[in-house]
Formats: sequence, C-alpha cells, structure tokens
Amino acid sequence: MSAEVVFVAGARPNFMKVAPMLRAATALGAPFARRLVHTGQHYDEAMSGVFFEELGIPAPDAHLNVGSGSHGAQTARVLEGFETWLLSRGSAVRGVVVVGDVNSTMACTLAAAKLNIPVAHVEAGLRSFDRGMPEEINRMVTDSIADLLLPSEPAGVENLRREGVDPARVVYVGNTMIDTLAQQLPAARALQVPAAQGLSRGDYVLVTLHRPSNVDDPARLAALVDLLRRVAARIPVVFPAHPRTRARLESSGLLGALRQDGRVKLLEPLAYRQNLGLMADAKLVLTDSGGIQEETTYLGVPCLTLRANTERPITVERGTNTLVGDDLALAERLVNDVLAGRYKAGSSIEGWDGRAAERVMATLVERWG
Ligand code: UD1
Repeated sequence: MSAEVVFVAGARPNFMKVAPMLRAATALGAPFARRLVHTGQHYDEAMSGVFFEELGIPAPDAHLNVGSGSHGAQTARVLEGFETWLLSRGSAVRGVVVVGDVNSTMACTLAAAKLNIPVAHVEAGLRSFDRGMPEEINRMVTDSIADLLLPSEPAGVENLRREGVDPARVVYVGNTMIDTLAQQLPAARALQVPAAQGLSRGDYVLVTLHRPSNVDDPARLAALVDLLRRVAARIPVVFPAHPRTRARLESSGLLGALRQDGRVKLLEPLAYRQNLGLMADAKLVLTDSGGIQEETTYLGVPCLTLRANTERPITVERGTNTLVGDDLALAERLVNDVLAGRYKAGSSIEGWDGRAAERVMATLVERWG
C-alpha cells in the first residue's frame, strides 16, 4: 500500500478549508495518496452535501455518520469511528490533517495521536481566551497534541510561542478558507444573488447567528431579535438561519416577533456561493461566526461581531471587524456609522492570498514526504 495522508472534514466551516488542500494535493502529485474522511457532524444537505458539490470536493473515502448529540457523545462517536477506520488502514497512513476547531477536529486529533500517527492542524494557535466556548477547548486540546501547527493569522503564531510550543512545530501558512473565497468569488458574483433575493447591491444587511452564547439564552435571543427589527426599519435585513438558531427561535416563541413587520427576510441555510454572493455586496454583516469575520475582512465589507471576544484579532486590528459583545446599543450606533459612510476601512493580510493550501502541501511534503 502507498503512503496516505488523511484529510478530515466534519462540519460546515471545515469544507471550505479542506477543498483547496485536496486540490493542491492533486496538482502537486504529492508523494502520498490523499484520503478524505467526513465525520458526519453536519449531515443536512444544506449544511454539508451542497458544499461538496459547489467546492468540487471528491466523495469521501469514509463517512463516519456521527450526527448530532451532546458534546461528549458526539466527540466520543467521532473518536471511536475514526480510530476504527485508521486501524483498518494499517500502516498506510503517513499523517492526518485536521482543520479549524469543531468537535470533529479535536476527536480525530486524539484518535490519531494515540495511534502515534502525526497530525497537522490547519488554523492552529487561535485563542479566544474564553473557555466557555466549546471551540476554545477543542483548539487547546488539538494544539497540545498535534505535531505540526499551521496558523492562519499572526496571532496564532504568537499564542503558540507564548504557550511555549517548540517553534520547529509551527509554520505560518495563511488562510486556506480565503483560498476558496478567492477561487469562488467570480462564480458567486455571476449568480447575482442579491437581485434574486429582491435586494439591491450594497443596500442590505446580512445576518448570521448560531453560537450557543447568543441563541441558547432566550433573553439574549430576544434582545437580538429586537436589534434586528430596529435595523430592518432602516435597511433591508436578510438572515439565513442555522438549524440550531431556527430551532431556538421556535422554542422560545420568537419566530413570530422576528417576522412581525415582514422586514427581516428569514432564509434557510445558504449554499456556499449563495452566501458569498450576498456577503460580497452587503452594506454590512452582523455575525457571530468565526469564518465570516475573516471573509468580510478579505472582501472589505464592514462586519459587527456579536461576541465579546475573537480568536481572530487581525480582523479587528487590520480588517473591517468590530466586536460589539453584549452592547447592542453600540451595535446600533455602529450600524448608523456604516449607513452614514463613517466606518473604518481594512487592509490586506499576509498569507490571505489564495495560495495557503499550496504552502500547507509544501510543508507536508517536506515533513512527511
Ligand atoms: C458547529 C461547531 C461550530 C461551528 C458550527 C458551524 C462544534 C463544537 N461547533 O456548531 O464551531 O461554527 O458547527 O455550523 O463543533 N443540525 C442540523 N443539521 C446538521 C447539523 C446540525 O439540524 O446538519 C442541528 C442539530 O439540531 C444539532 C445542532 O444543529 O444538534 C447543532 O449542531 P452541532 O454540530 O452540535 O453544532 P453547531 O452549532 O452546528
């Protein structure tokens, strides 16, 4: 059997990070065969299947079908499923590549590390310094046992240095998610998504919300619904809702309030290009996503992040992002600033250039080839 490198994808934000690496591996004719494992953490067509089609991701070599569950249960199912699969490959696996900070990232790292298989973590070193976030635990565990740490922004390198990590384990590669954005932007623009949604370019606000800290607490969710309604009184608001968010809106009885004036346009989760098409021409984005903070920075679109902290500080320092935390009055003031043309501009960031995946592959060939 020839040596294999295994790429892991589990949840929606993983797919755009993995796609360019799989392409780069093929283009490079790397000295190892590439394998793809989908853990099945996200499984709805709208949360998974459509991304494979649009981003040209090949069918996975294995699907673990873990589905939803509590953090412990979901993590355990990935751990067990991935270990079983790795064992079935015998000595063929030369290394495992994990991306991001979802439960699948941590669980697959743990399974591989226990089998003494080297792991590379793409997007290593990010820290929100908020252990209340499940992703923060995933990042810390993953980075502590992965062999090769490949940060996507300078803060990642700095955090790992501060944690005493051997610099030989760290290689700054830049942002593979931006590779996908740069590649897909022309196709996304060609779809003319704003017009198809009845919106005018540059004259609407795009909203995404799914973090437990925003959507699981009914009082917080009610305050956010109120904010969205007030913003929508000024400018059209479009809100593709994550399944978790829609469920919480329903269970807390807030769906009716959100729809009341008919000004907030609630949509199902969008496919990658649909979302990118809307994001690229938005006047403003309101979000709690990690990746969207980076994507808006690259696109130069103002972004207000409904969180108290970010593991992606470069988007605030150099990009178009502002953290508004719990201060929804501040959010409203900043919305006014954007509408009045008074918001800050961003600048470009090293390694967010569409070629990060090539640097990942070059590093893997050098270390594992
Ligand atoms: C996960 C990641 C988060 C990432 C987000 C992007 C962790 C800890 N969290 O959060 O970092 O930003 O993905 O979406 O890994 N559901 C469906 N269909 C699906 C997937 C989920 O209906 O295909 C529903 C289920 O009710 C599920 C809930 O969404 O219980 C939450 O899914 P889960 O994977 O546990 O976490 P996310 O909130 O999606």
